[in-house]
Amino acid sequence: MKKVLKTMLMGILVLSLSVSAFAKKKIYVGTNAEFPPFEYLENGKPAGFDIDLVEEMGKIMDCDIKVVDMAFDGLLPALQMKKVDVVIAGMTETPERLKTVSFTSPYYKASQVIVVREGENNIKSFDDLKGKKIGVMLGFTGDIVVSKIDNVKIERYNAAYAGIMALKANKIDAIVLDSEPAKNFVAQNGGLEIADVEGAQEEYAIAVRKNDQKLMEELNKALEEVKSNGKYDELIDKYFK
Ligand code: ARG
Repeated sequence: MKKVLKTMLMGILVLSLSVSAFAKKKIYVGTNAEFPPFEYLENGKPAGFDIDLVEEMGKIMDCDIKVVDMAFDGLLPALQMKKVDVVIAGMTETPERLKTVSFTSPYYKASQVIVVREGENNIKSFDDLKGKKIGVMLGFTGDIVVSKIDNVKIERYNAAYAGIMALKANKIDAIVLDSEPAKNFVAQNGGLEIADVEGAQEEYAIAVRKNDQKLMEELNKALEEVKSNGKYDELIDKYFK
């Protein structure tokens, strides 16, 4: 009887060891799926350029990618509290964010644009926003840009869609948002257009905890590989053309 038990225990031990040896490492990825085409919900699940990109990187790193959707301004706190391992959310590398987290090499260049109601476009520069009521999204870089302009009334929204709706309902004069999502929302909502104004360039990158050097190196290597093996270009074609 004792021998049987021993053999059984050994069996369980061997089995569990081999299972854990084969189980892939999981990487928890935080995003905010309200930012098409980078991330949005499709049948209730996060999808988009960033999601496909990080999945491709996961294949190279031989890791399982688990995407966790949350509010944008909760992403970096969740990263620091180890609720997620990385954040990919069309997130711009900024000096302020660099104080608390690190960023991989950039994977996309973007800029802030001004969305207005069609036919009401008298905006020729960011300075023309002076004296106007402007919508921005809570915690987005657009807020930083607009906050630097004198004498502007800022309305803050939780998500870009809410800002777009407020603009359509005449509650604000314009919204400032990242270029690609702005194009996306304008294409999907009639009666809006993007003002012909050049905004400063920003770079999107993946955020990682400051002390997670190994993960950072792996991510940068994987990013280089998706750029050289053609996957990155495939995704650009899929989402931006
Ligand atoms: N690029 C802007 C920023 O870093 C906006 C990003 C918003 N992303 C999102 N998934 N909601 O602040």
